[in-house]
Amino acid sequence: MPVIRFVREGRDVECFPGENLRDVAVREGIQLYGLKGQLGNCGGCGQCSTCFVSVVDESGREALTARTPVEESKLRRRPEEWRLACQALVERSALVLTRPQVRLPDAEQRLEAARQAPLPEGPIAWPVPPGMEESDDELDELSEAITAKADEEA
Ligand code: FES
Repeated sequence: MPVIRFVREGRDVECFPGENLRDVAVREGIQLYGLKGQLGNCGGCGQCSTCFVSVVDESGREALTARTPVEESKLRRRPEEWRLACQALVERSALVLTRPQVRLPDAEQRLEAARQAPLPEGPIAWPVPPGMEESDDELDELSEAITAKADEEA
């Protein structure tokens, strides 16, 4: 499962494949918005252009879904690596700088350190919701029964 490294915040966050990048940040309490966006934003509709992020690792650019038509329009005059978090779905691990329009103290050192540290792989299995742990045992029993039945018939 993907891990998003939020460079400004110094945090690695696990997420589900296909999860919306803005939703991941909001869920984790990561501030995506500058002052303008904090005062008012579109809530993830791609209309306010305040949820900028920059994908700061070369391989990470393909870790998010391709730019949407909304982004192509809204990001015309912005760097190629910028995205609107609300329009991007996470497919693989990536390094992301929130609010790239805001100065990052010691930017070069922090970006280089973030690029050098290997990204953790993240969990390899979907989390089991609370109270559902027993169902795995039931599935295992069912799987064994099906295998045994198939062996009998062979
Ligand atoms: S939240 Fe408004 S454009 Fe992303």
